[in-house]
Amino acid sequence: MKPPKPAARADKVSLWRYLRLFRADLLSAQPARLYRAWMAEFRTPFFRSFLVNQPGLVDEVLKRRPMDFPKSDRVGEGLRPLLGESVFLTNGARWQRQRRIIDPAFEGGRLRDTFPAMVAAGQAAVARLRARGPGAVEIEAETSHAAADVIFRTLFSIPIEHEVAAQVFAQFRAYQRNQPILNLAAFVPLPRFLPRFHRRDTRARARAIRALITRLTAERMAAIEAGCAPDDLATKIMTTRDPQTGETFSTAEMVDQVAIFFLAGHETSASALAWALYLLATHPEAQARVAAEGAALGGAPGFGDLSKLRHTRDVFREALRLYPPVPMMVREATKAERFRDREVPKGAQIVLSPWHLHRHERLWEDPDGFDPGRYATEAGQKCLREAYMPFSAGPRVCTGAGFAMVEGPLLLAMIAAAFELRPVAGREPVPVAHLTVRAAEGIWLELAPR
Ligand code: HEM
Repeated sequence: MKPPKPAARADKVSLWRYLRLFRADLLSAQPARLYRAWMAEFRTPFFRSFLVNQPGLVDEVLKRRPMDFPKSDRVGEGLRPLLGESVFLTNGARWQRQRRIIDPAFEGGRLRDTFPAMVAAGQAAVARLRARGPGAVEIEAETSHAAADVIFRTLFSIPIEHEVAAQVFAQFRAYQRNQPILNLAAFVPLPRFLPRFHRRDTRARARAIRALITRLTAERMAAIEAGCAPDDLATKIMTTRDPQTGETFSTAEMVDQVAIFFLAGHETSASALAWALYLLATHPEAQARVAAEGAALGGAPGFGDLSKLRHTRDVFREALRLYPPVPMMVREATKAERFRDREVPKGAQIVLSPWHLHRHERLWEDPDGFDPGRYATEAGQKCLREAYMPFSAGPRVCTGAGFAMVEGPLLLAMIAAAFELRPVAGREPVPVAHLTVRAAEGIWLELAPR
């Protein structure tokens, strides 16, 4: 059985119907031909967008000339009250400075240091699932809890049960319920002359979240100054000097970054882990192999044990391919371009779509099928290099990509080793894209302790 895929829309629909579909779900608003096209243009009275699916053109935009294709201001519109001037939203010199300070915290050596905190979060997740007892579980809520726990433990050395962490987590959930339409603001930009209003409760919630994060950050700044700060990601980032100017982040700047680490780092990982667990539940053979790799980790895995999780890693890769948590990204052309003999005017939106690239019928063999073995083949390796970008690519690649590729397989293996997973009859999840790719009615699984 093929993993679930949303139905595509008919080739031609009116603009209003398109906007309605968009509001409902970014994925099913797209026509099926995008799974075969190298490039497509959307022309409406307000804007022109070009979806780019050809690997060479994707490279041009993301890797070769990223500064010519900055993030569009509109993309962040819905998120700005929460994220301020975080690295996710900035461009140009400011963005470069932020990456110079943040990137060292996510390098390989640091991942080794954060590993024990990830293992502790995995153990806590298994214990929470055990405590639930038998019956169907909505697993996205559980993976969301686990991923939030990973972020707080690695960033601030506190578990999700910590008073402030728990409040941030709860407030974020409510925020995302009210503000789930990053896609709408980003992909269907309204004319610039229309002011954008953020709902009052959205702004109030953003302020509440930022107040909590400010508390954590200010306390940490004080601990750093007193010389008693724990050696975690927050301390690392807050003490790293920009190699060009010698400056560090101020507390206010750090608050913006913590907000994005939390948002970008927990929704995405939670979504990928939930889909990966669903894929295991529906593919018992793969599940048995992942469970065996998880069991071989033993009770106190070390960073070196990660290399044992080979099949688990490929399963997680397949989950990121079939259900990329960030399904599409938008850039803006700062000057007129020519793509595949087409004029791309200055100001046009360039849409890069991991969702379509990862299921492209001219690039992948059996694009909609689940096949973790594909990465061991030459064709699979080529696709991995040319048609796989769950973390984006180029200098603006996800800062947490390495982190997520440790966290995901680790938690997947730990959970599969502890429970036998089965799908719940009549509850096949339907992927929809809001902020990340989630299932419309959740992802339901039966968990039986092994
Ligand atoms: C499976 C998990 C994850 C996926 C699939 C993912 C995916 C992505 C993608 C596609 C982007 C680029 C967005 C764009 O250019 O529009 C991005 C950016 C980013 N991600 Fe992740 N991410 C994941 C986990 C994480 C984690 C764990 C962290 C941090 C702890 C993180 C932090 C960031 C940040 C800070 C950016 C902005 C980078 C920039 O614009 O320079 N992500 N992520």
